[in-house]
Amino acid sequence: MGLVTSTEMFKKAYEGGYAIGAFNVNNMEIIQGITEAAIEKRAPLILQVSKGARAYAKHVYLMNLIKAAIEDAEQSAGFDLPIVVHLDHGDSFELCKSCIDGGFTSVMIDKSGLPFDENVKITRQVVEYAHDHGVVVEAELGSLAGVEDEVNVSAEDSSYTRPEEVQEFVERTGCDSLAIAIGTSHGAYKFTAAQCTRNEKGILVPPPLRFDILDEVSKRLPGFPIVLHGSSSVPQEFVKIINENGGKMPDAVGIPEEELRQAARGAVCKINIDSDLRLAMTACIRQYFVEHPDHFDPRQYLKPARAAIKKMVEHKLVDVLGCDGKA
Ligand code: G3H
Ligand code: 13P
Ligand code: ZN
Repeated sequence: MGLVTSTEMFKKAYEGGYAIGAFNVNNMEIIQGITEAAIEKRAPLILQVSKGARAYAKHVYLMNLIKAAIEDAEQSAGFDLPIVVHLDHGDSFELCKSCIDGGFTSVMIDKSGLPFDENVKITRQVVEYAHDHGVVVEAELGSLAGVEDEVNVSAEDSSYTRPEEVQEFVERTGCDSLAIAIGTSHGAYKFTAAQCTRNEKGILVPPPLRFDILDEVSKRLPGFPIVLHGSSSVPQEFVKIINENGGKMPDAVGIPEEELRQAARGAVCKINIDSDLRLAMTACIRQYFVEHPDHFDPRQYLKPARAAIKKMVEHKLVDVLGCDGKA
């Protein structure tokens, strides 16, 4: 199986009432942590690469590290690990084309910031090229608050997806999946303290996701795969470790796992997670250096960081996405 498109994965996820985890990858340890978790839990995977990740690590390195993970799964566990390699937030036809030509099996064209007709036009152009090359396309309607690559999307710009637009958008573009905005956002600060309430322990409780919009969208697009971006839960144990070991991340808050679980059971087939990987790695490394200020071998601190990613991804695959045993 190896590198696959998401078509079959999404069909099975939709019918089975679970979601596929789409994890952003930037280096070898992140790829190893995620893929080792997927091997352990026999879960299908989407590994996604942003424009920034591609600029940081280079297309060829990421692509070959992912291929190495598939080979390792076969050799070390006799497991045919299905992986979709996906471009996250492609911002131009040229970038999408370059990823398709370079072997990605899925791309996202994100023109959600443009007026509807312009979004349709560029998405359609990407879909035509992608489908000619056996690649699938994710598009987006509605915009999330937070940071997307280097562009700041402020909370005020955030606009929920309008369910009355989704059918026409999907029909006119021919896209294979659709990212919608129902109140998630990118980064480790998804909501300001003013947008939240506090529980009895003083921990911020974010406003609930707009499941009414998700329900409306899925009624209008039965069987069609819906994607949620900005779906890190910002585990408070990592925030605490960071803050107790020299970091400063006050009031970092994410999407409650219960809401992600609910989304995964419905029409949402792909749940995007990046910030939680960064938090796991940063928490581990900060703690390591506080405990071992004299160490300087990267293997010593990257090893526990990779193990922390693996443990966290295993938890997500089993307890949030419900995709364990589905590969
Ligand atoms: O949605 C954005 C992703 O978290 C990618 O972030 O551009 O820093 O790689 P990045
Ligand atoms: P998080 O920042 O919530 O991890 O979102 C990641 C994402 O949507 C990548 O496209
Ligand atoms: Zn995103």
